[in-house]
Amino acid sequence: MAESFLLSFQLNGEPVEVAAPPHYTLLEVLRYKLDLIGSKQGCDKGDCGACTVQIDRRPVLSCITLGVHVQGREVVTVEGLTRPGMHPLHDCFDKWVAAQCGFCTPGILMAAEAYLSAVGRKVTRGEVAEALASNLCRCTGYTKIVDAIVEASELMAAEDEGKDDHRRAGNPSKTS
Ligand code: FES
Ligand code: FES
Repeated sequence: MAESFLLSFQLNGEPVEVAAPPHYTLLEVLRYKLDLIGSKQGCDKGDCGACTVQIDRRPVLSCITLGVHVQGREVVTVEGLTRPGMHPLHDCFDKWVAAQCGFCTPGILMAAEAYLSAVGRKVTRGEVAEALASNLCRCTGYTKIVDAIVEASELMAAEDEGKDDHRRAGNPSKTS
């Protein structure tokens, strides 16, 4: 049996150290060594997106990413998807009843969050469909998922604009 190695990285904002066999994928490290079972083991071969997490704020498929890859990096899973108060994506998925069985939902939330944070504005339905093309929903309820993400994009952009206004108000050098 392969010897375990010690993996150190930031997980959901906290430093973590965990011993895992070198062949373990990131998904296996999360689920079987750290008991974080929010990231789902769907196809386990890079086809469905259910295992999507973020590494250094970019979405990755954790079932085809080796655990060693995250040494010293920053990982966010669905358990770490927070903002002060309820995250707009949680709020909108709830409002639009965007989860059916919910199996695809963690991966979709993480892919959507990375995309919306990167673009920083309200997005269109077409843009959402394109950005989430790698995330499959077995229940096929895409309409409500897309509606929820479009509305969340508006809320996130408004929140970020509010923060910018607040920063500018507190920093006169940026108001000119
Ligand atoms: S479980 Fe990773 S892509 Fe399907
Ligand atoms: S809600 Fe069931 S797989 Fe998407």
